[in-house]
Amino acid sequence: MSSAASENKSVVGDAPKTDHAYDGIEEFDNPLPGWWKWLFIATIAFCPPYWLYYHGGTPGRSIEDSYGVALAENTRLQFEEIGELKPDAATLVEYMHKDNWLRVGKIVFQTHCVSCHDRDGQGKVGPNLTDEYFKNVNTIEDIAKVVNNGAAAGAMPKWSNRLHPNEVVLVSAYVASMRGENLDGPRGAEGKTIPPWPEYTPEAATESDSAP
Ligand code: HEC
Repeated sequence: MSSAASENKSVVGDAPKTDHAYDGIEEFDNPLPGWWKWLFIATIAFCPPYWLYYHGGTPGRSIEDSYGVALAENTRLQFEEIGELKPDAATLVEYMHKDNWLRVGKIVFQTHCVSCHDRDGQGKVGPNLTDEYFKNVNTIEDIAKVVNNGAAAGAMPKWSNRLHPNEVVLVSAYVASMRGENLDGPRGAEGKTIPPWPEYTPEAATESDSAP
């Protein structure tokens, strides 16, 4: 900017002075423009009604609430697309290989299971799910059984009454997919080694051939 503009003589020079003076420095009376002040007051006046409407107790109006509703609706719609999944070996192995559904299983895991099995399944209160050792699981279906019915007299809670059957299948497929990551956990190996999961044979998967 040019020095003439930065001195701003035309505005400051014409303004009346207040009677404030400190150490010989005097203060000009340059009030904020009216439109600015009213805009400022309007934003303050806007807040209480906004807060009352969106956050003041009526559920379902906040952005967070409507996001949750939309998300649940979307998941239900998608569940219609896959029907009700059976917790059998073929279905679990199939969904271990469907990345977008595995992501739903991961969200279920992060919502309900990390408090005991830790963020990546390495174990905390509950056993490490990423190694080759299992206490209650001999076959891949046993994962869904343990999730549905719980284990160790409720130390591993029962989820059949809290999760949609599809969520049980998807989180079980996600747990199955953790095996072999062998993350270091605080509990060490628990239980025995078990045979590998069944091979995935995509001949059943009629659609979705994702070769580029
Ligand atoms: C309150 C803590 C807790 C929560 C929450 C929890 N678990 Fe567990 N889980 C355990 C415990 C403890 C065991 C070990 C049971 C035993 O000793 O037999 C276990 C065992 C398991 C096993 C069997 C592991 C094995 O070695 O046989 C699986 C699979 C499992 N949990 C999956 C899940 C999933 C999936 C969720 C979330 C939907 C979940 N758990 C939530 C505590 C929990």
